[in-house]
Amino acid sequence: MKTLIEPFKIKMVEPIKQTTERQRTEILKGAHYNPFMIRAEDVLIDFLTDSGTGAMSDRQWGALLQGDEAYAGSRSFFHFEKLVRKITGFKHIIPTHQGRAAERILFSVMVKEGDMVPNNTHFDTTRANVEFNRAEAVDFVIPEGKVPDLEHPFKGNMDLEKLERFLSKYHSNIPLGMTTITNNAGGGQPVSMENIRETRKLYKKYGIPFFIDACRFAENSYFIKLREKGYEKEQVLQIAQEIFSYADGCTMSAKKDGMVNIGGFLALNNDEIAMQARNLLILTEGFPSYGGLAGRDLEALSVGLEEVLHEDYLRYRLRTAEYMGEKLIQAGVSIVRPTGGHAIFIDAKSFYPQIPPSQYPGQVLSCELYRKGGIRGVEIGSVMFGKKKEGTNDEILPPMELVRLAFPRRVYTQSHFDYAIETIIELYKERQDRAGLRIIWEPPLLRHFTAKFAPVDR
Ligand code: F0G
Repeated sequence: MKTLIEPFKIKMVEPIKQTTERQRTEILKGAHYNPFMIRAEDVLIDFLTDSGTGAMSDRQWGALLQGDEAYAGSRSFFHFEKLVRKITGFKHIIPTHQGRAAERILFSVMVKEGDMVPNNTHFDTTRANVEFNRAEAVDFVIPEGKVPDLEHPFKGNMDLEKLERFLSKYHSNIPLGMTTITNNAGGGQPVSMENIRETRKLYKKYGIPFFIDACRFAENSYFIKLREKGYEKEQVLQIAQEIFSYADGCTMSAKKDGMVNIGGFLALNNDEIAMQARNLLILTEGFPSYGGLAGRDLEALSVGLEEVLHEDYLRYRLRTAEYMGEKLIQAGVSIVRPTGGHAIFIDAKSFYPQIPPSQYPGQVLSCELYRKGGIRGVEIGSVMFGKKKEGTNDEILPPMELVRLAFPRRVYTQSHFDYAIETIIELYKERQDRAGLRIIWEPPLLRHFTAKFAPVDR
């Protein structure tokens, strides 16, 4: 059989609003050409993020009713703890309301001013939480991981030689090292088991604890099963268990591979760090048996963590991105290759070569996707990462201009994806007509969320 069907049927539906191109042109103007400022109700297909946007299963909705809302020692916590321990093997399991809360607590406890934290690529909140503690976040993804159209099975891998050089020089200022699976910022690309094992060896050699940013651990584990020799016959759960066996702890945003709309955790082995983390947790998140979540959230998460490891789900999940990627490449659209787990990343620089990076080709493409098809994605380029040179209006621009279309889990069907593919191909045919944008207002920090734009004068 060629057609891989969605491994679920639909029990409840949520209508989506159809708008006309004319209406959307007005909505875009009203949003100052920033899709973050569009009301979700006015979006037809929302590919802004795969975080917290998934659909829960009937088992998860059923589990919600069984939440134990006791303040301390709730039954739901022990379900959750047991399951996370089964997957990760870690001794201390600390729930948080989402991934960045786990990051904030971990780095507040472990990192001090002047320290450095290596990673394949830090996600923005991870980097921001390292920097908030006046430490430096340093990225060591392999060079192949930075070239959009270069094929490599594990583009999220750590550059082990560079890492070793760095560790040998600075190990006394490195309180922990990390690896992000999959490497979201680099295109949702997986990390191989061999690379995780070797990374572990290096950190161990220098006595540095190793933490995994595990948001998409199940997608990464399935990539290992598909692409790494020796893992073809292993169960995804066993692969995940092996990954975690190499680490001293992990941070997790359960809004991704936890298959829930809110939740996260910090898990680790060290007793002293766990004690300090729990003290901080009580200060801002809540008692250690709920950590900012309701008992029902923990129940739904326990079921989600079990369901995410089902192979028919993961096969469909990774195939979705691959399918869309194949069609776009066939039509000549340049994307980050091979496709990762949770998203497609379109190379906006080659989509609109006539628009210079200083006029934000990625922002133009994300606006065009909305205007043409009601589709919302996010610019990952000069708007997100561009920085003003001090004392001038010039900007230091990043190497890539991408637009990410991230896929909510179990939400959209194949015809939604076919529609999105058609829209992108139509836009590609009319690409010559498009011109750039300029910023007319921006906040001092994280400008991509709220900046206002206007079309450049032609
Ligand atoms: N680490 C990675 C790799 C992530 O992708 C995210 C979130 C986080 C940590 C933070 O988790 O949102 O629960 O606090 N990524 C989302 C995204 C927001 O759209 O990629 P959080």
